[in-house]
Amino acid sequence: MNFEKQIVCIGAGYVGGPTMAMIAVKCPRYKVTVVDINSARIAAWNSNALPIYEPGLDALVQNTRGTNLFFSTAIEQEIQAADIIFVSVNTPTKTFGHGAGRAADLQFWEKTARQILLHATNNKIVVEKSTLPVRTAEAMERILNQNTKNIRFEVVSNPEFLAEGTAIADLESPDRVLIGSQETPDGFKARQAIVDIYAHWVPRDRIIEANVWSAELSKLTANAFLAQRISSINAISALCERTEADVTEVAAAIGKDTRIGTQFLRAGVGFGGSCFKKDILNLVYICQSYGLTEIAEYWESVIRINEWQERRFVRTMLENMFNTIAGKKIALLGFAFKADTGDTRESPAIVIARSLLEEHADVVISDPKALDNAREDLKDVPTAISFETDPYRATDGAHAVALLTDWQVYRDLDYERIFQYMEQPAFLFDGRNVLDHKKLFNLGFNVFAIGKAPLKHF
Ligand SMILES: NC(=O)c1ccc[n+]([C@@H]2O[C@H](COP(=O)([O-])OP(=O)(O)OC[C@H]3O[C@@H](n4cnc5c(N)ncnc54)[C@H](O)[C@@H]3O)[C@@H](O)[C@H]2O)c1
Repeated sequence: MNFEKQIVCIGAGYVGGPTMAMIAVKCPRYKVTVVDINSARIAAWNSNALPIYEPGLDALVQNTRGTNLFFSTAIEQEIQAADIIFVSVNTPTKTFGHGAGRAADLQFWEKTARQILLHATNNKIVVEKSTLPVRTAEAMERILNQNTKNIRFEVVSNPEFLAEGTAIADLESPDRVLIGSQETPDGFKARQAIVDIYAHWVPRDRIIEANVWSAELSKLTANAFLAQRISSINAISALCERTEADVTEVAAAIGKDTRIGTQFLRAGVGFGGSCFKKDILNLVYICQSYGLTEIAEYWESVIRINEWQERRFVRTMLENMFNTIAGKKIALLGFAFKADTGDTRESPAIVIARSLLEEHADVVISDPKALDNAREDLKDVPTAISFETDPYRATDGAHAVALLTDWQVYRDLDYERIFQYMEQPAFLFDGRNVLDHKKLFNLGFNVFAIGKAPLKHF
């Protein structure tokens, strides 16, 4: 088949895979190829066991793979063939040298730029899909356009706003698509080429155009604002526990104010995921490097509250279980950072499991999709930890159950049965505020939720 355009995406991860699958479905006349240096990951994308779990993803890939969606390790060849190159490689927090622990590690990003430069033989549009520090496009254009091959590259910023667990729905019907470019004739042309892709299915008024720096900064800002709401409600949850206010009632009351809105007001064990922490740290670093110390401190406090909330959850467990959990079996229901994903990156469950192990608890971890990642996250932990898919087996003989991920399956469990097979007194810590606490209390549990008065039988 003769395709109208060839799109290549470098980076076959949580963003590159689903995003390109959606483009392939919606743009049947474009050939879309996703490449990666990780050949195992590419092999998984080409198999029936995709490398990531995301509701709706399997069907999307099956509909298009081999027709106009391809996964490959032939990076050189695909770069040469591409008209448009999306770059969706990882941009983790730097762990070494200047800016360690805050700045974005751009080594994967820069390597990709150099790969593009090495293999390209004609003009290309390069699209920043990864989340990057503001003004990265400038560095990217400098690297790319100082070439002797007489090739011109236009760098466009098109940050991705999908959320794991709802990625397919988010891609199908995004609140907005943001496309930023240089405001030059060539920049506008490149911008239009990216608008044309999304215009296949996204209403035009949801495709926002901006200058390239605004687009880059908007992604960091969006994640900082979302995380800030979680830290804000979690901060209030601690006050609720001291005052017999109920954080769910407070959230419902303030959420009705249209200026505030209802989303992202659920108190819990804290936010996780690969993005919020690293993107805020990156924002903090950028503010510091522009001498904006107060602004950096303001955003840093969002992370401090999150870490405090994770520790506070473990402290609540310890204090209420008579100040010792050594040798006690504690079942953790959920390890993924949120429901409907197997991703455990920065999951609060990692910190909580490790803290419980430090107290010498026997920890059993259960999760419908994240046990492989959980094993990997805790592979340095020698003893006192086990993994169990079946939640009933995980809770059998436990002193306490802690719900850490809001999987629907945990809301629907037979808690009467669980209670019968637990050690008494049985403790239940609802780290996501999703269970029926009164009902659990009436079954005999001592129930501790976030931002609510505890329900205790003693
Ligand atoms: N995960 C999310 O929910 C999400 C949402 C929005 C934006 N983002 C951003 O998107 C970017 C990618 O995130 P992700 O979660 O998909 O990461 P990921 O780690 O799942 O995937 C990145 C992939 O890039 C590949 N890669 C790295 N260097 C490469 C190179 N030189 N050539 C070819 N492949 C290379 C890696 O092997 C890996 O498979 C990050 O900047 C992230 O901040 C992520």
